[in-house]
Amino acid sequence: MLTIRALDELRKQVATPHGAGRTVAFVPTMGFLHEGHLALVRRARRLGAFTVVSIFVNPSQFGPGEDLERYPRDLDRDSALLSELGVDVLFLPATQDVYPVGCSTWVVVEGITEGLCGATRSVHFRGVATVVVKLLNMVQPDVAYFGRKDFQQLRVVEMAVRDLNMPVKIRGCATVRDTDGIALSSRNEFLSGKERSRARAIPETLAEAARRYVGGERRAGTILEGLGAKLGAAADAVDYFGLFDAGTLAPIEDEEQVSDEPLVALALHIGRTRLIDNIQLGVDEPPDV
Ligand code: PAJ
Repeated sequence: MLTIRALDELRKQVATPHGAGRTVAFVPTMGFLHEGHLALVRRARRLGAFTVVSIFVNPSQFGPGEDLERYPRDLDRDSALLSELGVDVLFLPATQDVYPVGCSTWVVVEGITEGLCGATRSVHFRGVATVVVKLLNMVQPDVAYFGRKDFQQLRVVEMAVRDLNMPVKIRGCATVRDTDGIALSSRNEFLSGKERSRARAIPETLAEAARRYVGGERRAGTILEGLGAKLGAAADAVDYFGLFDAGTLAPIEDEEQVSDEPLVALALHIGRTRLIDNIQLGVDEPPDV
C-alpha cells in the first residue's frame, strides 16, 4: 500500500490503473477505522478494483462546539488495517490542499439537508458535500462507497454528484452493528459502560418498528407508538426521531399511512456523545436484538 499526501503524486498513481481500463474505487473516511469502514473497503476489494481510501478529518463539517478537537485518531492502526485488506493507496490530503488559502467555493445541497441532522447541524452538510466533491475530483474514481448508517449524508452525496454531472457511481452499504445491535461508530469510543447500556434502546427501537412494519402495520403513529418515550428515557436529549420518506427525507406525520419502504431515523445525545442511527423499513436488515 502506498501512503500518499501530495495531490500530484495521487494523480500519477491513479492514472496507471485508469489507463489500463481498471476500475478505480474510493472510500472516503475520517479515520479511526472500525468494521463499518472496513466493510466498505471489502466491497471495493471484492470488485477487484484499484482501491483508494482517504483519511481526512474535515474541519468544515464540524460546527462550533462540536467534537473536531477530540475526534479520535490512530493513523498507525488504520494504516495497518488497510494494508492488510489489500488497499492500493492510502490518501492523506493536507488541509491546505483541500482548503487553499482564500478558498471560497462551497457545495450547498438544498432541501434534503434542512431536516433530520441538518436541523441542528446547519453547516454540517455544506462541509460534507464540499469535501466529498473535492475528494472525488482529486481521486477521480469510477465508484465510491458510503455507509447507509449516515443515510442523509448518502442522499446528499448522491444528489451533489447527480446535480454536478460527476462521472462517478455512488454505492450505499449496509450498516454494520456490534453484537449488542449498536451501529459501529468512531464516536462510540466516548461512551462509558453505563452510557453504552443506555444506547441499546436505539437498536431495540429500530427493531421494534421493523417488527411492526413487517407485521403489516402502515399507520405511522402506530409503527412508532411508545418508542419515542423509550428513547427519551434512555437519552439525555433526542434531536429527532421519526418516519421519513426515504427519497425526499420529508417527515411522515403520525396520522399518515407510510409510503413504501420509509426510513426510521433518529439522533440523540447520551452524555457528551451524539449518536445517529436509522433503518429503511422493508429494505435494511433490522438490528438483531
Ligand atoms: P466517517 O464517519 O469516517 O465514515 C466514513 C464512511 O463509513 C461513511 O460513508 C460512513 O457512512 C461509513 N460508516 C460509518 N459507520 C458505519 C457503519 N457502522 N456501517 C456502515 N458504514 C459505516 O462519514 C464520514 O466519515 C465523513 O462525513 C466523510 C464522508 C468521510 C466526509 O468527510
